[in-house]
Amino acid sequence: MQFPQALETVLETLERMRDQSAQHPCASRRALEALTPIAPADGVMGGAAPLVAPKFAAPTEGASYPEGLGGPSRTGIDSAAPAKVGNAAKLSAINERVCACVNCPNLASSRTQTVFGVGHPDADLMFVGEAPGADEDAQGEPFVGRAGQLLTKIIKAMGFTREDVYIANVLKCRPDTPGSSYGNRPPTPREMQTCRPYLMEQIDIIQPKVIVALGAVAVEGLLGTRAPMRELRGQWNEFNGTPLMITYHPAYLLRNQSPSEKRKVWEDMMLVLDRLEKPISEKQRNYFL
Ligand code: URA
Repeated sequence: MQFPQALETVLETLERMRDQSAQHPCASRRALEALTPIAPADGVMGGAAPLVAPKFAAPTEGASYPEGLGGPSRTGIDSAAPAKVGNAAKLSAINERVCACVNCPNLASSRTQTVFGVGHPDADLMFVGEAPGADEDAQGEPFVGRAGQLLTKIIKAMGFTREDVYIANVLKCRPDTPGSSYGNRPPTPREMQTCRPYLMEQIDIIQPKVIVALGAVAVEGLLGTRAPMRELRGQWNEFNGTPLMITYHPAYLLRNQSPSEKRKVWEDMMLVLDRLEKPISEKQRNYFL
């Protein structure tokens, strides 16, 4: 394939991604660096930012949210209020900075891509996890692996879809595992501290009514608290004035298949539904994950 045709194909694909997602498409630093030497001298590629910037400019503030991106539905709680693209554009702007972030050089060089967040930019309910794993690093979306599938099941049991809520992690890069592409390691305190401002900005923009911290790392990233999860879970906390529920990470439930542990998470989620003033059906009350 000739270069102009290849470029056209890439741009069409990026446009499709842009149209189907609330986020801007982004490429890893490594991928952009790899593209630079093959860019023609006439500046068609123009380096990392101009490659997509003109075609992928953020939507203007105040325009109505595109159909299919969850606009009017939000969480179904106040579905009469159509969402504005303002938040989507603000989140996109942070995502662009995250995509280019090299504050943790080891993570920037090992990641396939950054994993920013997904869901409704005006969500009432926000889930915060630990860090991307191998699946998330490959797909660029949080919670898409086995733990993510369980989280999706929990979200559905609550009466929502992934598009209704917002899902993010404390870390936007997969913690590197030098010498092995398998397994995960917990983020270091320094990595969490470095990445935390991005999460703070996401929360500030979305202003959810309730935040759910999934597991001990999320609790530490959000509240700076370290304690056994059995003592923390099921409790209401506050994050800058927003009610914050602590529950087990879905990966814990995958490791510990005990029905009583799963039921605890579900009880925590019913507290969340209550806080969101969502009616809980009899079927939901008797539900076991
Ligand atoms: N675990 C997390 O904490 N976050 C993800 O995105 C995936 C697994």
